[in-house]
Amino acid sequence: MKLLNLRSYLMLFSATLLMVISMQVQAADKNAMPHGQMPTYPGLSADALEEFGGEAGVHAWVEALFHYIMLDTRINHIFREFGNVDRQIFLNTQLEQMVLGGNVEYQGASMEAAHADLGITLTEFNAVVEAAYNACERVNTPYSVCNQLIAALAPFERVIVTR
Ligand code: HEM
Repeated sequence: MKLLNLRSYLMLFSATLLMVISMQVQAADKNAMPHGQMPTYPGLSADALEEFGGEAGVHAWVEALFHYIMLDTRINHIFREFGNVDRQIFLNTQLEQMVLGGNVEYQGASMEAAHADLGITLTEFNAVVEAAYNACERVNTPYSVCNQLIAALAPFERVIVTR
């Protein structure tokens, strides 16, 4: 019971944190990012990718992420109809290493282009965020390390959620 309370508290705390970060990034965006580049989370530590376990750690996390996504009936139909899980695991492993500060070239479409025709709602986006936290638990990523990645991905919400 106590564990459940702690988990709810942590989820509420992280949701608030993400909102604040997202607002800060949006504010910074207007002045500092005139060419539409996607800024990364300003609080990212220099060794964030290493803390995540490098490429192998990110790959294990992405596999766990898709495990939970495909179990979630709120969103799995979207991935079944429009996605290709193997391709998405490959490309997300690149992307997530990049947002954690790794010197990795992401070879997929922009987040805007990849999701433009999917009509994704905020509720669906949040279901993916939930799967992301569950993936951290599954691969035993420490909470603070997990939060760095999820906070770095949060600004993509602005281009992924279109409905
Ligand atoms: C921060 C959150 C997200 C990230 C980082 C992300 C990342 C990606 C990446 C890397 C791709 C591959 C692009 C390519 O094929 O070139 C992709 C495609 C896709 N994403 Fe996301 N995504 C996110 C959120 C979502 C959400 C919320 C949904 C649906 C609920 C979703 C559904 C899809 C689908 C169906 C595709 C395949 C599109 C296609 O191949 O035409 N994504 N995403």
